[in-house]
Amino acid sequence: MKKTVLAIIGCGRIANNAHLPALSKMENVRVKYGCDLLIEKANALKEKFPIIEETITDYKVALADPEVEAVFVLTPNYAHYTVTMDALRAGKHVMCEKPITVNYALSCEMAEEARKQNKILNIGVCNRYHRSVEMLEQMVREGKFGNIYHVYCSFRSFRSIPGLGGAFTDKAQSGGGVLIDWGVHFLDLILYVLGGAKLQNLTCDTYCEMAKDMKAYKYKSMWAEDTKDVENGVNDVDDFVTGYIRTDKASISFNGAWAQNLKKNEMFIDFLGDQGGARLDYGKKFVYVSGETLEEEAPEYEIPNMYFCEDEDFIKSVNSGEKNRNYIDNILESAKLLDALYQSAEVKKEIVL
Ligand SMILES: NC(=O)c1ccc[n+]([C@@H]2O[C@H](COP(=O)([O-])OP(=O)(O)OC[C@H]3O[C@@H](n4cnc5c(N)ncnc54)[C@H](O)[C@@H]3O)[C@@H](O)[C@H]2O)c1
Repeated sequence: MKKTVLAIIGCGRIANNAHLPALSKMENVRVKYGCDLLIEKANALKEKFPIIEETITDYKVALADPEVEAVFVLTPNYAHYTVTMDALRAGKHVMCEKPITVNYALSCEMAEEARKQNKILNIGVCNRYHRSVEMLEQMVREGKFGNIYHVYCSFRSFRSIPGLGGAFTDKAQSGGGVLIDWGVHFLDLILYVLGGAKLQNLTCDTYCEMAKDMKAYKYKSMWAEDTKDVENGVNDVDDFVTGYIRTDKASISFNGAWAQNLKKNEMFIDFLGDQGGARLDYGKKFVYVSGETLEEEAPEYEIPNMYFCEDEDFIKSVNSGEKNRNYIDNILESAKLLDALYQSAEVKKEIVL
């Protein structure tokens, strides 16, 4: 069996929790390198996932190796651009984590380079491979919703600012806060389920309220706490966001909070159509209400691991040359949307696209 030879660049949480568990289950891949600036992180990943053959600190070693066909870019957001551009220019296919990078202009350059080098460049908007999302997308195509006139989504949590003072809350490194980190999934999959939608105009406000004084921020647990730096770090990103978007299909309204003084986590998307409606419980299942029967249906189905499905489809794409749903050109519209939302919040005005 042909084995696609890979390198992993960035051996942090998403490598440990999502991609290595998935790749370790595949018989048609070899992971020749695990690379991290911090060798101890690469070594720890190799120890946990023996599919990794060698650990290195300089990703250019992997790019110079003619055996390596594709790389996974699993670094913080700011490094996506440089590592991906270097990898494409070295003739490698790339699977780069979400968001594409810190802004739309650089995202377009990455897409252009992938086209120029004729390589696959996929972005890790993994929710497009979630079974519930796939089913909803199909139901929309089959007309089960009729005309979807509005979508509302909420991605709000009680206390979830990640790695306060580290890369996540430093705009220069992350590109933004809850909007780019969580909104990237919610807004991308809304556009995906709608079957693409042309953006018309939008308005947005962002707030940095809950950890203005980083040392006074109270929490019970923190994602990426090992990267926290409240003494010397920066928190200049949104912890709350709200916005309204008009498209040639549905209008979309949303609220997102990395932290708020309300205990209930509300993570869902409502699709409102004139023939049917659905609430997708994010990362879980959905309920559908038919305008005909007026009954609520809660379909029963298995949910395979979306990272496995995403990575398996990437490997297929590398070998066939066929672009799949996560090819960068199919994600650019949601990157444009995130950029315009931040722009609107900055100038405090509506943005026309
Ligand atoms: N798809 C999802 O649901 C999802 C979930 C979490 C994180 N992510 C994304 O994954 C990316 C990584 O997030 P994380 O939480 O794993 O971060 P992390 O900080 O845990 O890991 C990133 C690793 O990259 C390493 N690194 C940085 N620059 C490097 C370079 N030039 N060469 C080699 N290694 C380098 C760091 O040392 C670190 O170990 C982010 O872009 C994040 O948005 C996606």
